[in-house]
Amino acid sequence: MLRGSVGLVTTMGALHAGHMALVETARAENDSLMATIFVNPTQFGPNEDLAAYPRDLPHDLGLLEVAGVDLVFTPSPDVIYPAGYQTYVTVEQVTQGLEGAHRPGHFRGVATVVAKLFNLAQANRAYFGQKDAQQVAVIRRMAQDLNFPVDVIVCPTVREADGLALSSRNVYLTPEQRKAATALSQSLLAAAHAYEQGGRDPQVLTRTMREVLDAEPLAETEYVSAALAATLEEVTTATDELLLMSLAVRVGRTRLIDNLLLPASLNTREGLAALGAI
Ligand code: PAF
Repeated sequence: MLRGSVGLVTTMGALHAGHMALVETARAENDSLMATIFVNPTQFGPNEDLAAYPRDLPHDLGLLEVAGVDLVFTPSPDVIYPAGYQTYVTVEQVTQGLEGAHRPGHFRGVATVVAKLFNLAQANRAYFGQKDAQQVAVIRRMAQDLNFPVDVIVCPTVREADGLALSSRNVYLTPEQRKAATALSQSLLAAAHAYEQGGRDPQVLTRTMREVLDAEPLAETEYVSAALAATLEEVTTATDELLLMSLAVRVGRTRLIDNLLLPASLNTREGLAALGAI
C-alpha cells in the first residue's frame, strides 16, 4: 500500500521509455509510487484516433511492476465518467493557441481527467513530460489556480538516438515514415542553431524550421510556432524572452508534435523547474 510521500505518473498506456523515465524519476523521489493508465475519451476529437490508440495493458503492467510501482489505477471510462457526468475543467488563455487551436476541446478533456486523477491519487508530486509542453503549462496553471496540493514536476523529452521524440503514436509509422519523422527534431535543432548564432526574430526561426520540414516530402506541416515560454503567447517580433518553439506535423496519417525551449539549455530538469517558477 501507499505510505509516506506519494509520486504520481498519469499515462494513457502504450508505455515507452519516455513514460518509464518519469516512473524512474518519481520512484527515486518518493516513498510510494502510483501510476494510472486510462485512454481518456474526452481529450480526443471526433475525427481523432481514440479507437485506434495503442493499448497493451499486460505489457504496461509488467513494465510498471519491474519499475517498482506500488499501485496502478486502470479505470474503465464509466468509472471516470459515470452516467450523468457533467463537470469539466476549462483553463482559459494558455489553451488558446498551438495544440488548443488545432484540437478543440482537447485541453478541457486533459484538465478534467488530470483534476480527477489528482483528487483520487492525493499525491505529493505528479510527473509530466515536456514533450507535451502545452499540456504541462495547462496542468501547472490548473494546479495553481485550483489549489491542488501537488507539486507538478516536469521532466525533459526523451528522444531516440536520431532525435525523434518518444511518443505512443510512433508505433503507427511505417519504416519509411519513421525515417521521415526525424524532420521534426531536425527542424527544432535548426532553429536552435539559428538562435545560438544570435537569431532572435521569431519569423526567421519558424521559417528555418519550415525549410527543414518542407524538404521532407512525407512531412505535412500543420503548424510551426514561436511562443513566449512563460505564457505560450505566439510572438512575431524579435525578443530576448525565453521561447518555446513547437510544431505539429503529419507523417502519413500520424500526427506528431515536438518542441524545444530556447535557449536550448532550458531543456533540462533544472531549466524546466526554473521555467515553472516564472
Ligand atoms: O499525456 C498523457 O498521456 C495524457 O494527456 C494524460 C496526462 C495522461 C491525461 O489523459
